Amino acid sequence: MLSTRFTLHSLVTEAHKTIQPYLSAQSISIDATMGNGHDCLFLARHSHKVYAFDVQEEAIMTTRARLEKNNCIDKVSLIHASHETMHSLIPQGEKADAILFNLGYLPHADATIITQKKSTIAALKHASELLSTQGIISILAYPGHSGGQAEMQAIVHWYKQLDSSHFAISIIRSMHEKINSPRLFTIQKLQ
Ligand SMILES: C[S@@+](CC[C@H](N)C(=O)[O-])C[C@H]1O[C@@H](n2cnc3c(N)ncnc32)[C@H](O)[C@@H]1O
Repeated sequence: MLSTRFTLHSLVTEAHKTIQPYLSAQSISIDATMGNGHDCLFLARHSHKVYAFDVQEEAIMTTRARLEKNNCIDKVSLIHASHETMHSLIPQGEKADAILFNLGYLPHADATIITQKKSTIAALKHASELLSTQGIISILAYPGHSGGQAEMQAIVHWYKQLDSSHFAISIIRSMHEKINSPRLFTIQKLQ
């Protein structure tokens, strides 16, 4: 099942609004790209436990400070590793109700440290296995930067081969989108 809808909200806000109903005080969630920690704080506020990944020490430090300031640090494991290793670093048997990817590079930092299509697709495969039934993956993709278009195409290619009786895909686009505007994809596990 594939659906498309348009939103007036920013796609970050839309990702949070879409994910929130999937989370409860018992939920495990995964932030696949912690960056400055905004998504991580959102997940921590609505989950029992969050596993958060980033390849940059700077992202870990910024996210830690944000979580400490908001009294959420105890709920979050900050993991300095690529998201493609998530399957080996999350305790065996744990399933996530929401897994969030906000791709690209860390704003106001080194723009050459950026998500890559090969590791993104590897991480998405692991995420689809770590996802609980009725859980959701959200992917915010940015085609406007170098490599971003190829990464988004690889994501589309990947989700198209998913079994549609097991996964429902939504594409969420901004009402104000321009050429190369970001796109939000959600993948819900049906069974
Ligand atoms: C757009 S930022 C994320 C924004 C963040 N979620 C927030 O709320 O501020 C993208 C992040 O992905 C990280 N990243 C790049 N490659 C990665 C990888 N293979 N595994 C995990 N994180 C990665 C970058 O270091 C960067 O911090």
